[in-house]
Amino acid sequence: MGKHPLLKEVQDNILLNKLSAEFGTPLYIYYGYQIKENLQKINSALQSYFDQYQIYYAVKSNNNPNLLSFMHNYLPTIGADCSSPGELFAASKAGIPMERCVYTGNYESKKDLRAAYKSGCEINLDDSTSFQRLIKIGVPNYISFRLNPGVGNGRFSQIITAGKEAKFGIPREKIINIYELAKEEGVELFGLQCHSGSAILDEDYFANNTKLILNTARSIEDRIEQNLSKISIGSGFGIPYTDDEESLDLNTVFFKISQVFEEFYGKDQSDWPILCIEPGRSIIGNTCILLATVTGIKESYKNFIGLDAGMETLLRPALYGAEHRIYKVDTKHENEISSVDITGRICENTDRLAVDISFPKAVEGDLISIMDTGAYGYAMSNQYNTRPRSAEILVDGDNYYLIRFRETIKDIFQNCNIQ
Ligand code: LLP
Repeated sequence: MGKHPLLKEVQDNILLNKLSAEFGTPLYIYYGYQIKENLQKINSALQSYFDQYQIYYAVKSNNNPNLLSFMHNYLPTIGADCSSPGELFAASKAGIPMERCVYTGNYESKKDLRAAYKSGCEINLDDSTSFQRLIKIGVPNYISFRLNPGVGNGRFSQIITAGKEAKFGIPREKIINIYELAKEEGVELFGLQCHSGSAILDEDYFANNTKLILNTARSIEDRIEQNLSKISIGSGFGIPYTDDEESLDLNTVFFKISQVFEEFYGKDQSDWPILCIEPGRSIIGNTCILLATVTGIKESYKNFIGLDAGMETLLRPALYGAEHRIYKVDTKHENEISSVDITGRICENTDRLAVDISFPKAVEGDLISIMDTGAYGYAMSNQYNTRPRSAEILVDGDNYYLIRFRETIKDIFQNCNIQ
């Protein structure tokens, strides 16, 4: 039997059946208790080893303002990592104060920079040219820059965000000069950020990455003769997507990071910069079931189970070959197992949610649960083949709330000037 934390929701399928009858499918369903548990685990692991830290939730992983405000109510100190003016909007809708938000863009337009500057959030820049554009708008009191330490990591090559092939960040040799320039321009306080990749389950990676960041921080501090006030190690905290994988032990991860801080800054934590992290996946990833309905079964050269959810609903498998655990909601035919591909209704051959998996016999109308879809699920969904996007539900205790309406065909065309 599987070990997913939401497996009991699939097995005790009363609510899933009810939600499907009331709201239809495909449907993204988030479980509040799992969001709270994830936040609690991260926050208490940080608290154990750091006197001063800041969590910026990565809004790109899931931008529903209702989920953001749910997080904010549970953990009032949470901030937001935003990569666009739209994400700043989501954070402010959720009541997260702008002083606790950071804007990390790349190739930012003047318009983006103006929105970030005006909002009052912190700004983390991806290049010296971004800084030149920013100072024409205004000089912030605090600024940070994104380091590309020359090596990255990540579950798929496509989600490695540092190293020689990455479009992000500033090489070490260049970044030091930028701080000097920023100081000359009147910036008073500084941070350094580095996000090298995503979905990482190697506990040692995080401390090793911190070492690379602090090495560069030291050179910057020597050059500008001033300590950095914040160090953001970005994110990358992975979650298991299969039953063979184990969750990251966050206590070990932050303990090891604190040892690196101690090595660089000494035992007295009042000499340490504030540790910042920008988790998305590890907060929202495993909290969601994407519920879909079987629309067609085909026996061809391969056997296919076709769903009303495809690559337009959940892009990760088609884009990265990502795996998600998929369960049939009822237990009928549970002993009639065969190898199948699970697909959607999109006219692309890459439209797969799973390839060659062992799956029980399914029939039209069966409900299917796709797990770990909270992060980069709805956020990357789209309207390809003119399919309206799903609805989203938040389950909180005995209550459930429709937190995003299902899109309609009319919504898709609302911005077309149809004569
Ligand atoms: N901070 C920055 C600057 C980022 O670019 C990202 C993610 C995060 C934080 C959050 O990382 P996380 O905690 O989720 O690892 N679409 C891909 C993931 C791309 C991540 C992009 N940046 C996926 O579906 O796996």
